Amino acid sequence: MSLPDIQEVCVVGAGNMGHQIGLCCALAGYTVKCTDVDRQTLSQAEKFADSYLEGRVSKGKMDANTAKSARDRISFTPEIEIAASSADIVIEAIIENLALKKQLFAALDKICPEHCILATNSSYIVSSKIAPATGRPDKVCNLHFFNPALVMRLVEVVQGPHTSEETVERVFAFAGKLNKTPIILKKEIYGFVVNRILTAILNEALYLHDIGVADCHDIDTAVVNALGHPMGPFKLLDLVGVDLQYHVCMERYKDTGDKLDMPSPLLVEKFVKKEWGRKSGVGFYRYDE
Ligand code: CAA
Repeated sequence: MSLPDIQEVCVVGAGNMGHQIGLCCALAGYTVKCTDVDRQTLSQAEKFADSYLEGRVSKGKMDANTAKSARDRISFTPEIEIAASSADIVIEAIIENLALKKQLFAALDKICPEHCILATNSSYIVSSKIAPATGRPDKVCNLHFFNPALVMRLVEVVQGPHTSEETVERVFAFAGKLNKTPIILKKEIYGFVVNRILTAILNEALYLHDIGVADCHDIDTAVVNALGHPMGPFKLLDLVGVDLQYHVCMERYKDTGDKLDMPSPLLVEKFVKKEWGRKSGVGFYRYDE
């Protein structure tokens, strides 16, 4: 039996990534219900939707009708049952904690319709670690967006050994309808494609800083002006979140036991000081205004 078309999307976790993923889906014509256990995060996500869409209209990048219809299609609720009970696909974008994700997927498995696909936007937790918490492992996969999700075109669709071909095809087609450029990873690998390459760059930048070769600003200047990257590694760390990169390194280290995978001293220092980048007002740069 083939599955019904995806019409309704539920985004769980309206923080750093989820608030923009939800809007991407609403702008592509889907009905979207966003939910978060933290009411402040949810209300910030709703305010962002208003201000982003207004901003696009006043900048002349979107007509008022398109903005209004997208806004009408997206709603925000703290009740996961309301958000997920009629979803055709759930995109989970909560914090990177495996135990919490497993708990959430087990709950979603009970709440969502039988045909609903359960996708995780995790940056490094492969879905085979989460899928056994559900009774539908064939409909579980990674669907990984990049920050800022409204701007970055790439989406990684990662097929685990449990994920059916049909799920991968449907998620790939869905990502295309979001006006994204999806790629399929045919097997799970830590960090997927992009974060493996990115981590190599970030680690090298942190190493050059740690051994006193150059400061953050000059390393960023080098990468932007010589390699043509839109922003340097330290600005990018501030954008994606120092905390996220710290956890990426720690998880990798736990897996491999290789000291080279441990977070660099500067990353640890920033993490401990809670200087996590844009979201905390200071990271490698200041964001006071
Ligand atoms: N949210 C939504 N839209 C944003 C935005 C944000 N946070 N920041 C910028 N934009 C939009 C702007 O509105 C603008 O749109 P228009 O041109 O259509 O008006 C456009 O992006 C360009 O913005 P700016 O002119 O203000 O700034 P910029 O040209 O310097 O671009 C940037 C900003 C898009 C962030 C760019 O610097 C960039 O592409 N940086 C690299 C980002 C990147 O590498 N992301 C991947 C991170 S890795 C990751 O995400 C892994 C993970 O697992 C989390």
